[in-house]
Amino acid sequence: MSMKHVTGLKCVVCGEVYPADNRYTCPRDGIEGILEVQFDYERAAKTLTREALTSRDKDQWRYRELIPIDSDSPLPHLQVGFTPVYHAPRLADALGLAQLYVKDDGRNPTNSFKDRASAVGVIKAREFGSDTIACASTGNAASSLAGFAAAVGLKSFIFVPEHAPDPKVTQLLIFGANVIKVKGSYDEAYYFCMEACAKWGWYNRNCAINSYLVEGKKTAGLEIAEQMAHQMPDWVVFSVGDGCTIAGAWKGMVEMQRLGFISKLPRMLGVQAEGSKPIVDAFLAKGELRPVAARTVADSIAVGRPRNWRKALNAIYGSNGSMQAVSDEEILKWMPITPRLSGVFGEPAGVAAMAGLAKALESGIVRKEESALVVITGNGLKDVATARRATHEPIAVTPNLRELEGVLSARGLV
Ligand SMILES: Cc1ncc(COP(=O)(O)O)c(C=O)c1O
Ligand SMILES: [Zn+2]
Repeated sequence: MSMKHVTGLKCVVCGEVYPADNRYTCPRDGIEGILEVQFDYERAAKTLTREALTSRDKDQWRYRELIPIDSDSPLPHLQVGFTPVYHAPRLADALGLAQLYVKDDGRNPTNSFKDRASAVGVIKAREFGSDTIACASTGNAASSLAGFAAAVGLKSFIFVPEHAPDPKVTQLLIFGANVIKVKGSYDEAYYFCMEACAKWGWYNRNCAINSYLVEGKKTAGLEIAEQMAHQMPDWVVFSVGDGCTIAGAWKGMVEMQRLGFISKLPRMLGVQAEGSKPIVDAFLAKGELRPVAARTVADSIAVGRPRNWRKALNAIYGSNGSMQAVSDEEILKWMPITPRLSGVFGEPAGVAAMAGLAKALESGIVRKEESALVVITGNGLKDVATARRATHEPIAVTPNLRELEGVLSARGLV
């Protein structure tokens, strides 16, 4: 094994640093003691340069010095990361914002941001000699893990809550995962999966406790820094469930500043749904997390007991950022507006970030002369039923031009 660029795993609660092995949490702080991967940045800076990047593949492995995998580990063949960032002036106008960019992370192999973490997860499972990997997920991490396990030939067990949307469940069945539908919430599925991993020794891909996986999510932040180097937006907006996504992306941007790729860091805006906003509440109360019973149309962020809330709030405080809650109605409102004005069709959790930006503009947290980048974390076809709720029926006619003309002119379309 050679992971010379990784110096250890640091506990977010007590600060103790442990060797970079296959432990998940700090023995002193238990489940609260989430670990964070530490790197040798001086070493990374020697080879991770702007010049070096010009000749590397356009995927997340271009930042290999900042990803905790062995330098000789084989990489999954699926192309992951380096998703496009689009300038979206018409959507900016609709929001009343000076500049807006949209990063389409639904363009990953299984159509969500989670592929960044799963790609690292299957590599770590193999490095630790495991032939089976498991996770609990509100849907996307599951379908993503199923896809990557299939790609590299690992066996997978996936625990999903009973209300996970059908397209996501279908996706993981198609990839051949062993799917365990848990009668209960995501939070119950999560703890049940942990128990099963402990019993059968499966590699645990749950990002909330697996610090290596967050480093996969971090690559979105590394990319934003590279892609936006000369026009770093004032705000970067993510929706928040467990909290590891926003925390990972922030870590990535901080690292890129440290390596000299960017001088300015953005402020982070984290968005939760009204029916599932324990991190927003902890932010407003400047206190500890109080779990809630989660309920929202944005299934991917329906997390009542987020495991990574400390890391998420560290990103918010560290960036002088903010948290915003949005109602399901607001999410449904932005479901069709976002693709119509930017060409990017996001699932409810992805669009929640857009709805949150709109609300933060209304309340003055974000000012209209500022710029923002919204990460659409999952593709809209992940939850067709909700997308259909947010739009209308097609125009039904017989193939008769006169009939069509009548219908179209009645609607003012011709
Ligand atoms: C599409 C999508 N957006 C956002 C999130 C939130 O990420 P996290 O739970 O790491 O905060 C998820 C997590 O499942 C997701 O699937
Ligand atoms: Zn600790």
